Order: sequence, then structure tokens, then C-alpha cells
Amino acid sequence: MSPQVWLITGTSSGFGAELVKEVIARGDKVIATARNVKRISHMRDIGAAILQLDVTASQDELNRKAEEAISIYGRIDILVNNAGYTQFGIVEETSHDQWFSQFNTNVFGTLNTTRAFLPHMRSNKAGIVVFIGSMAAWDGLPAGGAYCASKAAIHYAAESLSKELEPIGIRTLLVEPGVFRTELLNQPSSSRAISKVGDYRAISEAVAKKFDDFNGNQPGDTVKGVQRIVDVVKGESDACGKPWPSSLPLGSDAVSLIRKKCENTLRDLEAWEDFAKSTDI
Ligand SMILES: NC(=O)c1ccc[n+]([C@@H]2O[C@H](COP(=O)([O-])OP(=O)(O)OC[C@H]3O[C@@H](n4cnc5c(N)ncnc54)[C@H](OP(=O)(O)O)[C@@H]3O)[C@@H](O)[C@H]2O)c1
Repeated sequence: MSPQVWLITGTSSGFGAELVKEVIARGDKVIATARNVKRISHMRDIGAAILQLDVTASQDELNRKAEEAISIYGRIDILVNNAGYTQFGIVEETSHDQWFSQFNTNVFGTLNTTRAFLPHMRSNKAGIVVFIGSMAAWDGLPAGGAYCASKAAIHYAAESLSKELEPIGIRTLLVEPGVFRTELLNQPSSSRAISKVGDYRAISEAVAKKFDDFNGNQPGDTVKGVQRIVDVVKGESDACGKPWPSSLPLGSDAVSLIRKKCENTLRDLEAWEDFAKSTDI
């Protein structure tokens, strides 16, 4: 099989940076992107092409970036929407601007970038769009509402998109990692704001402590995580012969959280089933 061409957003650290290395190690070509290309210029040394790309740029700008990216190797086979950050804060205390900014990167930026590459993939009748979602899509965390909501939005947007694109020959892969050891919890944007409102203080302090304790001790191995993503995209290793997943949890914490959510949802559904059905005409 000839090498495939990947474009990955947010490759200055974490999952994005490790994915660039893994994709090259598997013999594929990669266009590594970041909003500050100085942070990724060293990736040229391992064979990556480099492109400046801020996912919050305008749709026109992202369309131009897509054209520029496609001209590098003549095509893009796999787009990985990885760029993102975490906004912590109690819902009542997180401002409209903070919510908008969270959605602007994690949701609108992801969708606008995808929109820029889809005409190319549709004309090829082939391609894979990977979304790095999160297990946070499955359970609203106190003091993490904006991030959880952004990842839930991506979960359903990706699900709809997959049904629209599948008949054309394009696949989507929604990856939903647990907690992995990346720079996510070190970013200035992810500062764990302690509530100024007494009613919320205890819960916001507990969440801040939980994530401070997590930082540097996250259970997820980022290298193993990206290997699994590439295995699924390429149908290699343990992913070979398995059916394409509707979403791909990564990490035992993600598997447990999603299982518990499904069990609780079924339990509630059963407890309230007769009541819920009583509204039918
Ligand atoms: N680590 C986890 O536990 C975990 C769990 C579930 C999901 N995820 C998801 O995994 C993805 C990658 O995060 P990570 O864990 O690898 O954290 P990370 O090390 O902080 O990487 C995040 C990357 O996103 C980039 N980015 C942020 N805003 C951007 C923008 N507007 N345009 C382009 N790039 C932007 C950052 O670039 P700069 O250097 O320019 O800031 C950085 O390269 C995120 O979508 C995150 O939500 C992570």
C-alpha cells in the first residue's frame, strides 16, 4: 500500500506531537500543524511537513490552509482534529466569553477545519476524519461543564457526520481518551479556578485537587494511545479484522466511565420506563 498522507492539528505537544512521530514510524507522510510553527520546526528533521494552522481562524483562512496543505503531497487521506484545551470552572461562574472560547477551539474550530477538507475527500470518495474527543463527553464533571459540553458536542457532530459521509466512502473515527499524560493540565488556559462563591467552594476545591494530583500522574500512556489510534486507522496490529468502532475509548478509566454511564442510564430508563411512556397518545 502506498504511504497515506495525514494532517494533524495541534502538534506542538501531547497526542499531536506523538502522533506525528508514530505516523512517520509507520511509513506514512504527515503534515504537522500548529498555531506557532516555531514549536514544531524540529519535526522537519524526522520528515514531517510543517504548516501554520490555528483552528480558530476564519473559514476562508482555513479553506486556504487546506488548499496549501493538499498542494504539499497532492492529497490528504487522514485529517486528525486534535487541537483543544480544557476550561475549568463552575458553570455559573464561567463567563459567556470563556464558554465561547472553549467552543470556538474544541467545537467550531474542529468543525471548520473539517469543513475545509471535506470537499477534497468527497472528490476522492475516500478519506478518514479523526476526532480526538474525550471520555468527558459521557459524564458532566462538576467545575468542568464547558469542556465536557464541548466534547459532547463533538461526539454528536461526529456521529451525524459519520452517517452523512459513510455512503460517500469517507469514514470518521471518534476517539474518546481517558486521562493521559500530556501537557493538557499544564496549559495556562486549564488553570483550575477556585470558586469565589461559598456555596461552590468545596466542590471546586475538590475538583482542583483531583486534577492537581492527576497532573504528572495520569494513568494513560500517550505513546501507547497514539499507537492504538494509528492501529485502528490503518487496520493494523490488534485492530486488524475488528469492526470499525462507533467511538473508540482509550484507557481503562474511559472504559469504566463509559460502562458505568451506560449502566446508570439503563437503570434510570428501567425505573422510569412506564412513567416516561405514559405520555403517548
Ligand atoms: N490528555 C488527556 O487526558 C486528554 C483526554 C481526553 C481528550 N484529550 C484531548 O486530546 C487533544 C490533545 O490534547 P493533549 O492532551 O495532547 O494536550 P496538549 O499537550 O495540551 O496539546 C493540545 C494541543 O492543542 C493545541 N491547540 C490549542 N488551541 C489551538 C488552536 N486554536 N489551534 C491550533 N492548535 C491549538 C496546543 O497548541 P499550543 O501549543 O499552541 O497551545 C497543543 O498543541 C485535545 O483535544 C484534548 O481535549 C486529552
